[in-house]
Amino acid sequence: MNFEIPDPSTLKDLEAVAHRVAIACGRLIVDERPAHLEVAATKSSATDVVTIMDHRSEQLAMGLLQELRPDDGVLGEEGVDISGSTGVTWIIDPIDGTVNYLYGIPWFGVSVAAVVGDAGVEGGWRPVAGAVYNPITDELCSAYLSGGARLRGAGKVRDLRFDAPPDLASSLVVTGFSYSSGKRAWQGQIASELLPQIRDLRRMGSASIDICSLALGRADLYYESGINSWDMAAAWLIITEAGATMRGFDTPYPTKRMAIAGRADLAERIVEIIAPRWDELPRDS
Ligand code: IPD
Ligand code: CA
Repeated sequence: MNFEIPDPSTLKDLEAVAHRVAIACGRLIVDERPAHLEVAATKSSATDVVTIMDHRSEQLAMGLLQELRPDDGVLGEEGVDISGSTGVTWIIDPIDGTVNYLYGIPWFGVSVAAVVGDAGVEGGWRPVAGAVYNPITDELCSAYLSGGARLRGAGKVRDLRFDAPPDLASSLVVTGFSYSSGKRAWQGQIASELLPQIRDLRRMGSASIDICSLALGRADLYYESGINSWDMAAAWLIITEAGATMRGFDTPYPTKRMAIAGRADLAERIVEIIAPRWDELPRDS
């Protein structure tokens, strides 16, 4: 598939917009978090929650994007869906890690990505700029296509370079579990097969920040079934610009059914471990 890629100076501007929006939303969800935060609604299952702050953050992102890039499309996890005329669509996760946010676990963030292609079709779009912000650690990872990935934190900016250990046995692997209990049983089986073969397994709870952790040297390999475009869009670009691979089970791009990030040979090892049970993965995702 051919994608129409904006010129480098536009890409740089898109990264700056992603940066600005992610920080504004990140500050909002921390500074204006109600003293008693309640679950406003549930989505795919009783454990897939949404709070008033998810909606407020998405509204803020949409308002800023309409001011800064009025002709672009916007697609947000909580329902914003605006079509544009420039070929660029913003895919937003206004709080990635809502369950952590609800419990006060400091591992959640905001993901903002500019993509080209058809943002509503799996495999039909590619991220070209993006930012993932953790407002608790005040760390912002960002990238633009062919422009590398950066971390801004503690008043400094540094380039991100992914580096993996020599083998699976020394890899710290990150994964996540579905909101659907049927699917979790399958995920548990895969995890139990993987555990004896790796350094250790983490379930940290915010896919975009989890994937960026690889670029920060905090983990080596990531795989998960069930993440959506808003969870992966910005982090996919950041991790690939840092030098890793991100793919699906049998596709060169990540899908909702499977997203794997890391060094290509280790990602392939995950595919080999999953392969015998691939057809048993429930179709509900
Ligand atoms: C979730 C987180 C979690 C992942 C789920 C996502 P949300 O996003 O990224 O780590 O395991 O698949 O849905 O619901 O907090 O935006
Ligand atoms: Ca979310």
